[in-house]
Amino acid sequence: MNNRITELFNIQFPIVQAGMIWTSGWRLASASSNAGILGLIGAGSMYPEVLREHIQKCKAATDKPFGVNVPMLYPNIEEIMDIIVEEEVKIVFTSAGNPKIWTNWLKERGITVVHVVSSVKFALKAEAAGVDAIVAEGFEAGGHNGRDETTSLALIPMVKEQIDIPLIAAGGIATGKAMLATMVLGADGVQIGSRFVTSEESSAHQAFKQYVVNAQEGDTQLTLKELAPVRLMKNKFYEEIQELYKTAPSTEQLKELLGRARAKRGMFEGDLDDGELEIGQVAGLIHEIKPVADIVNEIVGEFSDAKQHIGRL
Ligand SMILES: Cc1cc2nc3c(=O)[nH]c(=O)nc-3n(C[C@H](O)[C@H](O)[C@H](O)COP(=O)(O)O)c2cc1C
Repeated sequence: MNNRITELFNIQFPIVQAGMIWTSGWRLASASSNAGILGLIGAGSMYPEVLREHIQKCKAATDKPFGVNVPMLYPNIEEIMDIIVEEEVKIVFTSAGNPKIWTNWLKERGITVVHVVSSVKFALKAEAAGVDAIVAEGFEAGGHNGRDETTSLALIPMVKEQIDIPLIAAGGIATGKAMLATMVLGADGVQIGSRFVTSEESSAHQAFKQYVVNAQEGDTQLTLKELAPVRLMKNKFYEEIQELYKTAPSTEQLKELLGRARAKRGMFEGDLDDGELEIGQVAGLIHEIKPVADIVNEIVGEFSDAKQHIGRL
């Protein structure tokens, strides 16, 4: 497969393994890159020196291109960016912040910059800031999410109408069929998160992976809109949020319930009751924990079968 995304990143298939807190370290990123897609290390849950270690291990584990995802709302951002440059990472995905702040600085240092958005307005801002490509992420996606709740089916063609640079679709894509669908809508490639959380190489806790595999349609929900909207699995922690909502809580009360390190506790340490378990709506379509290479082969195979099937219609 050859298009603007495979050329931009020098990869075999136009697929990005999403950078995700607590689940995408060097093992997942290098396995993804070795499977012919773009692997991303999720810097959002790493102290700067931990990130350096992950980058070094990733470089040792693959000679293929890989990148780092940097949510801009986290602290230590200057240190994180310095490490990325010192370690000669060539691709950075920024999210959760203003693309104007870091794009020029990174591009001046020879880095390819992609920014994640969840609306047309922010897609235009990212394009104006000079990014090389955009990820447009729909409401179905796991993790932090847009306030406007626009689904991928609606968002991708609307963004495509307004921008010229390469467009990567995200949110609700776990299969080759969904990949084809978003490409029909105008995407040049896809970013996949939830499906890779349950890969063997992801650093998600085994209990969390199994919880996702057991999930059915409707088991995820977007909540905590007053803080930062997040899609997660329903569990005891989620029920506690729902109980608190009945009392018309202040933002301070919501913050207090969320507390610190909930995401680590849930996704990395496997506390299924009290942890925050970020995952997308496609959880209900994920039935097995598998190696990344098998997931990629399956998606690519499904993509070409679906393309032939549609061609025959
Ligand atoms: C566990 C988890 C953690 C995530 N962490 C981040 C993150 O740190 N930075 C970011 O830009 N997006 C993050 N996301 C969003 C993904 O990068 C990706 O866009 C999303 O998962 C795509 O939707 P899908 O889950 O339906 O595949 C996260 C998603 C999940 C499921």
